[in-house]
Amino acid sequence: MLIVLVGPPGSGKGTQAKLLIDRYGIPQISTGDMLRAAKKNGTLDKDILALMDRGGLVPDQVVIDLIDRRIDEADCKNGFLLDGFPRTVPQAEALGALLEKRSRKLDAVIQLDVARGLLEERLIHRRTDKRTGQIYHLVYSPPPPGADLEHRADDQPAAVGKRLDVYEEMTAALLPYYQAKGLLRRVDGVGKPEEVTSRLLAALGT
Ligand code: AP5
Repeated sequence: MLIVLVGPPGSGKGTQAKLLIDRYGIPQISTGDMLRAAKKNGTLDKDILALMDRGGLVPDQVVIDLIDRRIDEADCKNGFLLDGFPRTVPQAEALGALLEKRSRKLDAVIQLDVARGLLEERLIHRRTDKRTGQIYHLVYSPPPPGADLEHRADDQPAAVGKRLDVYEEMTAALLPYYQAKGLLRRVDGVGKPEEVTSRLLAALGT
């Protein structure tokens, strides 16, 4: 199964990806996680780091190169779920070329729909467990006592607004691109996480 999850920041891509990969036995490939890992290792260029923390997109070629290397790893043999990539039409075109070179094809592009007012609230209250990567929300899915939590730099209110604007300006153009290819399926991302998962599985026909 080769799946792309598209949706605005906070729409639940990471939360749902973790549930879907267990179901399909495929890895989650999140360019955001890969960039944050590079930040921790000190291997991310300082200008790119500043761009990310302010809520902007990193240059297309940086993430295309990450994906080009990652999809050749052994765990991707039976498929993978892309979370947060592609985010622009040039990235989508590059992905098409990378897959064609490997004689592989996308099965579906799932768009998670959530209204902007809810997204801000979800992001500002998000916390992630530093050790396990588990995603929490201080109100809807509170972390257990003693969890070692991280508050992402780009979840500060100013960066959240910028990320939502960037999504509307740049990433939303992906939707007609994949619609024209007959791959796009829209899923309502509002409701309990397990209700959203059921809708996703139905959209994927499983
Ligand atoms: P990335 O890490 O991909 O962030 P994002 O797309 O902004 O998405 P988020 O991780 O913020 O949200 P999500 O949709 O995964 O929601 P989550 O499940 O966590 O990218 C970060 C940055 O990296 C970008 O800004 C850019 O700089 C750079 N980057 C990455 N990829 C790039 C690319 N391809 N090109 C260029 N730059 C790139 O949920 C959010 C919160 O809501 C959590 O608290 C969760 O508990 C809660 N929640 C989830 N589901 C529900 C629900 N059903 N009900 C109530 N609460 C819920």
